[in-house]
Amino acid sequence: MDVLVIGSGGREHALVWKLAQSPKVGTLYCAPGNPGIATHARPVSIQPTDTGGLLTFAREHAVGLTVVGPEQPLALGIVDAFRAEGMRIFGPVRRAAEIEWSKAFAKEFMQRHGIPTAAFRVFKREESAEASLYVSRCPLPVVLKADGLAAGKGVMVCRTSAEATSAVSSMLEAGAFGSAGETVVVEEFLEGEEASVFAVTDGLRYVLLAPAQDHKRVFDGDQGKNTGGMGAYAPTPIVTPDILKRVGREIIAPTLRGMAAEGRTYRGCLYAGLMITGSGPRVVEFNCRFGDPESQVVLPLHEGDLLDLLIAASDGTLTTTIDRPRVTGSAVCVVIASGGYPDDYTKGKVIRGVDAASTLEDTMVFHAGTRIAPDGTLVTSGGRVLGVTALRRTGPLNATIAAAYDAVHRISFEGMHYRRDIGQKALRKTLE
Ligand code: AMP
Ligand code: GLY
Repeated sequence: MDVLVIGSGGREHALVWKLAQSPKVGTLYCAPGNPGIATHARPVSIQPTDTGGLLTFAREHAVGLTVVGPEQPLALGIVDAFRAEGMRIFGPVRRAAEIEWSKAFAKEFMQRHGIPTAAFRVFKREESAEASLYVSRCPLPVVLKADGLAAGKGVMVCRTSAEATSAVSSMLEAGAFGSAGETVVVEEFLEGEEASVFAVTDGLRYVLLAPAQDHKRVFDGDQGKNTGGMGAYAPTPIVTPDILKRVGREIIAPTLRGMAAEGRTYRGCLYAGLMITGSGPRVVEFNCRFGDPESQVVLPLHEGDLLDLLIAASDGTLTTTIDRPRVTGSAVCVVIASGGYPDDYTKGKVIRGVDAASTLEDTMVFHAGTRIAPDGTLVTSGGRVLGVTALRRTGPLNATIAAAYDAVHRISFEGMHYRRDIGQKALRKTLE
């Protein structure tokens, strides 16, 4: 079967790399892809938001399955458009994807269905005065979130009342996040460790993948600004098998039931961003797609045929729910970023050592922000440039961490930056 993957980052490289291992996959296409993806998939120069162009391509090339990587096409309704034409596609329809594209919807949905999450209030633009008064009386810290898609930047954790009231006015009055911030969610700050759990679902049944931990801050020790993710590892000991089972029963299952009951049957990957608190797992956010960089560890660890799983989820034919996945070994991904990221950075730096790093055993160099310069050299073209993943089926996590860094050390470009502590939280947890 020929397969089209939509997107161009590390997540899509991991998807394409994993799908390429399925004996059932014929030609793989990726729109638009990147130089790393091009080693497994034919690049198609159509943008992910060009729903009509992608649909025409898929029809003309008799694509048997389209897999959507990023959230924007889902929020635009690409799945609705493909389904209307009888084309198979992996991902939720627009009304189901609302669980990511409207945080207010997600919170009110969770409240309706008793899904554990932080206490919250929603305020609209015209309620700015009430919002200011409310946050000035909230226990601190308090969390403010722009309702719409803001590329991971729409969240402010405010530690003083002054910070909170000024955040309200920057979002609701000054339009700091544009239309995404016209409605804000004010929520209780949750204490605990964060983890990500992906459920691949057909709307009724689901398969949980290995629980992962992202590293969102730019510097070691969780210092500095929030980023798209500086590295990940899986499985994380923070989500014990018992907690994972609770995530399935208390979060994933009621979410799927609730979505179906509201006429928003959810098919695809449901990403639960969790806080593991003293009283159990609680939802920080839902995403309507695989996470990045978590996919770069979770997909390599997955032992089954990914094509089979994605088809069953798309067709509504999963035969069983798996909420205690068997995970053998561990995977660690270190993201190499451009100097200055997540603020301004320069592009076009020559990248050396990718081939040397990728030839190491069970080591993958997933591309995110790279391109081929006119002279044929590989150069940087984004903030997050590469994701270097080591996969080990045996041995302790610290050996997998060492393997990932061994590969990272072979790669260089001017100004490159990476965290040196990916996975350390797991080692500390194991020592407790
Ligand atoms: P989100 O985009 O909703 O995942 O938020 C981005 C980050 O902000 C999360 O990964 C958390 O680190 C932090 N955050 C969001 N909501 C909360 C909360 N209610 N309590 C504590 N931290 C939070
Ligand atoms: N790793 C965070 C995300 O994919 O949204």
